[in-house]
Amino acid sequence: MPTPTRRAWATIDCNALRHNLARVRTLCPAAAIYAVIKSNAYGHGMAQVAQAITSSATPVAGFAVATLEEALTLRTQVHDLPILLLNGFVDADEAALCLQQGIEPVVHSAYQVSLLAGCLPQSKKQGRQRIWIKFNSGMNRLGMSRTECLRAITSLAQHPHIEPIFMSHLAYADDMDNPASKSFTAKQLQLFQDTHLKAQQIFADTHPNSRDTHSKNSRDTHLNGVSQDSQTNEGGQETAGNLQSLQDTHANESLEDESLQDTHAKKSLHEGSLQDTHANEGGHDTEAGVSSHQGQLSQDMANAVRAAGNRLKRSLAASAGILTLPSTHLDLVRPGVMLYGSSPLARQMGPACDLQAVMTLSSRLIAINDVGAGESIGYNATYTCTSDSRIGVVSIGYGDGYPRSAENATPVLVRTASGIHRCPLIGRVSMDMITIDLSAVPAAQIDDEVVLWGDELPADEVARHANTIAYELFCKVTSRVNFHYENMEI
Ligand SMILES: Cc1ncc(COP(=O)(O)O)c(C=O)c1O
Repeated sequence: MPTPTRRAWATIDCNALRHNLARVRTLCPAAAIYAVIKSNAYGHGMAQVAQAITSSATPVAGFAVATLEEALTLRTQVHDLPILLLNGFVDADEAALCLQQGIEPVVHSAYQVSLLAGCLPQSKKQGRQRIWIKFNSGMNRLGMSRTECLRAITSLAQHPHIEPIFMSHLAYADDMDNPASKSFTAKQLQLFQDTHLKAQQIFADTHPNSRDTHSKNSRDTHLNGVSQDSQTNEGGQETAGNLQSLQDTHANESLEDESLQDTHAKKSLHEGSLQDTHANEGGHDTEAGVSSHQGQLSQDMANAVRAAGNRLKRSLAASAGILTLPSTHLDLVRPGVMLYGSSPLARQMGPACDLQAVMTLSSRLIAINDVGAGESIGYNATYTCTSDSRIGVVSIGYGDGYPRSAENATPVLVRTASGIHRCPLIGRVSMDMITIDLSAVPAAQIDDEVVLWGDELPADEVARHANTIAYELFCKVTSRVNFHYENMEI
């Protein structure tokens, strides 16, 4: 019986995963991390990735998935951490199930607020229930308008056992050197901050908790593994770091250069950042902190926030924001692709961001043929040899998830006795095979390993040759590929 690993296999390095998680922590020392492991952890294996992350020295505050099915499956493996449900629920039964299972749904549409009404917890037996309120700051995919968000906050803030989180998603933060990306993102940030400011006011005015209750709840929440009290957050540092990050050069540049010329918007952002300061100090008597900024923060607002002792936390950044926009880190970050070692950025690949590839996809040479100049290779004769060539056949194809769109010259690595060689893909990708030009590697032999992407060949680079992104490459690796997990235990 041949061992199935000999055809096509993926090696998942859990040490690399933990390195990337630690990188998130370094970049956002003060934010809570919700590790995004939807779509089978971007094709890496949700159960194994969750296990490796849970055993990491970098604690996460929770996990995020897209569908209720994913959340319920994960709940059977992860018992004591929150699970954020990014796509939310569609009916009352799903809403109730979320709350029973300690799943934190995203409320992205007004209809969901009424669905929730019937199942909100009447006691805080299980600690506070987080509900994520999603604001459409410009992506126009999921998210409510400003008015709908404010209504949702008004409704939820009346429940003492609910902790709303104000969230949005950046649509175009992957290319901040591009003026279009920069100004689009600046507008999103402005809208987010403005709307949060108003939502904060409503929340502080409406929420029944007193400051004392809040302090106690924070402790409860901490015990529940959702350590996000603003002054002693998961990062172990004061969230004054957020204020710092709002003053970050890049952010200032993008915010001030572009659409934020208008004073009102700047003021709002400034107030938004000041709220961090107040909020950070929410559990203390921080007269000094408040008075130093009193001129800029409205007295009413300061009083409301201080009196209520409640702060509406914010979440905006996924990998792109985490890597390039400290001003978006705020209270909770949602890293996805960077955990797997790939970069979401248009101009930088994973290694340039100090990320390590978690998945190495490999296969083997199963045939080597001499093909004469002028002969073509594979379906539709998309490649013609310009000289006599040595062509390798590798036993992986689109049936395994290798992209059919990969063009001629997409690199692969051939591991021979003499070392690792970069060779070009030639001809069309078929279901079970690809063909590569081995002419420059006379040492290559049948059975040599061929790496399609991994440590020494970023998936980001392969994705560019296939007119896609590494996210898609990872997610599309099929069950025909054998998965091996390395360094599961530390
Ligand atoms: C709402 C939301 N947050 C976070 C993420 C993670 O994004 P990334 O993989 O770019 O870090 C996603 C990904 O689609 C998302 O939709």
